[in-house]
Amino acid sequence: MSHPLKPVRSLEARYYTDPAIYAREMDGLLSRTWQYAGHSSQVEKPGDYFTFQIAGQNLFCIHGRDGVIRAFYNVCQHRAHELVSGEGNCKVVVCPYHAWSYELSGELRSGPNIKVVPGLDKREICLTEVRVEDFHGFLFANLDPDAKPMDEWFPKVREELADFVPHIRQLEPLEWVEIPEACNWKVSVENYSECYHCSINHPTFSTGVVKPETYDIQPQGHCLRHTTECQNLDRMSYPIDLASNPHAGEYSSWFLWPMFSFQVYPGNVLNTYHWRPQGPDQCTVWRGWYTVGGVDSDVIRRLAIQDRATTVEEDIRIVESVQRGLKSKGYRPGPLVLDPNCGVNSEHSVEKLQQWMREAVKR
Ligand code: FES
Ligand SMILES: [Fe+2]
Repeated sequence: MSHPLKPVRSLEARYYTDPAIYAREMDGLLSRTWQYAGHSSQVEKPGDYFTFQIAGQNLFCIHGRDGVIRAFYNVCQHRAHELVSGEGNCKVVVCPYHAWSYELSGELRSGPNIKVVPGLDKREICLTEVRVEDFHGFLFANLDPDAKPMDEWFPKVREELADFVPHIRQLEPLEWVEIPEACNWKVSVENYSECYHCSINHPTFSTGVVKPETYDIQPQGHCLRHTTECQNLDRMSYPIDLASNPHAGEYSSWFLWPMFSFQVYPGNVLNTYHWRPQGPDQCTVWRGWYTVGGVDSDVIRRLAIQDRATTVEEDIRIVESVQRGLKSKGYRPGPLVLDPNCGVNSEHSVEKLQQWMREAVKR
């Protein structure tokens, strides 16, 4: 890494407070990036569907008769009624307004009396499809039809995750912990993406799980990959079978720009972060916890509770204070601490994030 002659300054406060910048992010960034939609276990059988939202657009995912999971805008091609709500199963998608029906693959099937429409070619009417990718059972959608595939955005992540969590395909959500934070989503994401603050603010994490002096975060395409050595694993609150596979004793995480992260604790325990922006100074973080087949587990539930009570709680205080600070007339963006050797006391990962954040709202 080169030494800049002048310090690199943190992002100006308006990026975190200005409703116009927020509106541009919703319109642009969220419509061009891979966003978490839901888990494949929610659409196991043909006809299973669930609804979700990206960038203010109502969408749904549905399992086709051909086994393909597709996503569509949730809107009828007749006169725009929404097609489905919540989640469920259907043989065909029937619009509640005038009962036009669609195949699970989106083609128009029939509609009362539509044969009287002159020149109607049913094959020309189809639900509007949205790109969706299955990433080890985690379904991501992208409103940009020309978006590059996830493997190009996030090189090697699919393979690495499969190595770290060999049973990832059998995982199902056990618990979702919802964490409202009174801050801009970028404050929360930046805080997640550096460990310069860890030793002072996260005693449990820094003395119980990781060795902060070995923590590092490196870009890998549009992924920020966290690696670290772990503390003595005997001190973990659950048993770990180190012989079960090569990564059983490791911690790692893969943040997928802009709003999702896969995190693996020792013992190959997968958990996820999913940020959802709710306004310039409000976001919600969903912490997902998984087990094979979604089977209940005291260990995982205890971990979720401990994580909520320690790291999460500690971070809420930080990010909400930063958001108040960003509104202060006394704040001038300070220099980022960029250590050429990277490591835990460097903010090179924040520099990378802020570069993506600037690009996201450039016109
Ligand atoms: S709007 Fe859907 S059938 Fe009329
Ligand atoms: Fe933190």
